[in-house]
Amino acid sequence: MELKIAVLPGDGIGPEVTAQAIKAMNAVALEFDHKFTYKQADIGAIAIDKTGNPLPDETLELCKASDAILFGAIGDPKYDNAQGNVRPEQGLLKIRKELELFANVRPVKAFEALIDQSPLKRHLIKGVDISIYRELTGGIYFGKKETKEDGSYASDLCEYSAEEIERIAHLAFKAAMGRRKKVTLVDKANVLDTSRLWRKKVTELAKSYPEVTLEFLYVDNAAMQMILNPRQFDVILTENMFGDIISDEASVIGGSIGLLPSVSIGKKYALFEPIHGSYPQAKGKGIANPIAAILSAAMLLEHFGLYEESETIKEAVERSLKLGITTPDLGVKHERITTSKVGDFIADFISNPEDSNRN
Ligand code: IPM
Ligand code: MN
Repeated sequence: MELKIAVLPGDGIGPEVTAQAIKAMNAVALEFDHKFTYKQADIGAIAIDKTGNPLPDETLELCKASDAILFGAIGDPKYDNAQGNVRPEQGLLKIRKELELFANVRPVKAFEALIDQSPLKRHLIKGVDISIYRELTGGIYFGKKETKEDGSYASDLCEYSAEEIERIAHLAFKAAMGRRKKVTLVDKANVLDTSRLWRKKVTELAKSYPEVTLEFLYVDNAAMQMILNPRQFDVILTENMFGDIISDEASVIGGSIGLLPSVSIGKKYALFEPIHGSYPQAKGKGIANPIAAILSAAMLLEHFGLYEESETIKEAVERSLKLGITTPDLGVKHERITTSKVGDFIADFISNPEDSNRN
């Protein structure tokens, strides 16, 4: 298969982790006889520094002309206090909106090899397998905003249309059909009108999926349940802001936020991104965990039906975790293992899966 991939490394640790994802993809291409070509473009703080724009037109055009987008991370503390002005995050929000990437899918699993790394108890998290469907182009992130110039007032409006709810809900129910057939809608329907619209629309639409059990949970309770009994969840469906928060919380189950990949999909385009941020303190130190980026590449391959290829990457990742070939966020090991070394091990495993030295 031939795939044209737009690579948007972004800021902070983005370039380091994305480079490891590409190493893994190159190993797959060689091993399975595919042709992956990459074109790089700027987004976020680096794009602001070069052009004044967090999402330059060329970047958007490149993404539209590619089969898939591999994204690193954005954000730079030097823009933290940029009041109302241009900010790196606008690049990511704009690309999501422009490409209509309305569904962000975040799988959360407890890796057997890391179960004791998690601050949560083994018996609570063993076997956790959750798929979070986070709405990505609506809600409070994209509603009308207002800030009074004198600094006395600001507002962000939360809005949803029925159509915005339905298109992601269908994806969540379809996913549940291929899993344990349960959807939990996380909302705040005891307070918010938008949440009540979500409940109404999702309840109606659930009738088309009679095999799927639909449950409702208020977001405050869901935050508690995620820690108390995460195994109860199969597919979680939720709006933009709740999904942002609950998925960072869920990352604790896996032992590190550096492990969680995601895909943002719309009708036409797909962007693959780790859920973590740009971790500026770690930039250039070789301590960033590349697994989330590498697993995002595995999701990319799966998206194009390359299941065996994707499985090979996942197997390589699991092997690296089992052998402790991991970055320091997963516990300090006797030997310092860098971002790039983890990437090398994974690429190497993909090229020689039978190599007995690794058993
Ligand atoms: C994420 C990030 C983004 C978000 C930021 C960087 C805008 O936290 O992808 O989860 O809030 O969506
Ligand atoms: Mn987030």
